[in-house]
Amino acid sequence: MKIFLDTADIDEIRTAARWGILDGVTTNPTLYAKVGGTSYDAILQEICKITPGPVSAEVVAEDVDGMLEEGRHFAKLAPNIVVKVPMSEEGLEAMSRFADEGIKTNCTLIFTANQGLLAAKAGASLLSPFVGRLDDINQDGMIVIRELVDIVTIHELDTEVLAASIRTPFHMTQAALAGSHVATVPFKVLQQMVHHPLTDKGIVQFKKDWEGARAAAAAKA
Ligand code: E4P
Repeated sequence: MKIFLDTADIDEIRTAARWGILDGVTTNPTLYAKVGGTSYDAILQEICKITPGPVSAEVVAEDVDGMLEEGRHFAKLAPNIVVKVPMSEEGLEAMSRFADEGIKTNCTLIFTANQGLLAAKAGASLLSPFVGRLDDINQDGMIVIRELVDIVTIHELDTEVLAASIRTPFHMTQAALAGSHVATVPFKVLQQMVHHPLTDKGIVQFKKDWEGARAAAAAKA
């Protein structure tokens, strides 16, 4: 499963890239608002310099022409930009037009397998079902991941399922077990995936024992 970072924070992206586990990045207007400070374009270009993987840039227009204008603009910023388009009647048309133009799209705000199926048919290269937001309303978000992965596999659709709205390390394990092609994860969850109390305790103990052994050896010498 590919791992994307779900953030517009450059420091977080640099850190994950250094860890050697970063396959791409997803951004959205909310994540951009959290970092702010400079233009969305400038942030996207900076991210695209850090990772050669797909970097999702989200349109905010609700009409087809507006989506096309914003998406074409993003696509010119860097070769690895993927235009993120919301699931809607207009979004489907825009994704279909982008596909004709060779511009890759990530269909966002997917909450049902049917929505994902339609986005795949319209030519989206990434399908983003929102797991956490479904869990928030007492529905099992992982069901949509499992269903979409099955649909993509059974019908050999040329697209990938991207588990989005990930809130916990458990979501990541479940998405991987469901066969999700990609999961996009907040940096905090990525850090939670790294750590385990027994691992952290073990590192401290090994260091202590090593220093003890060296001190004993030095005392004997
Ligand atoms: C990423 O593509 C999505 O926009 C993001 O995962 C949404 O996450 P949230 O539901 O935590 O805002």
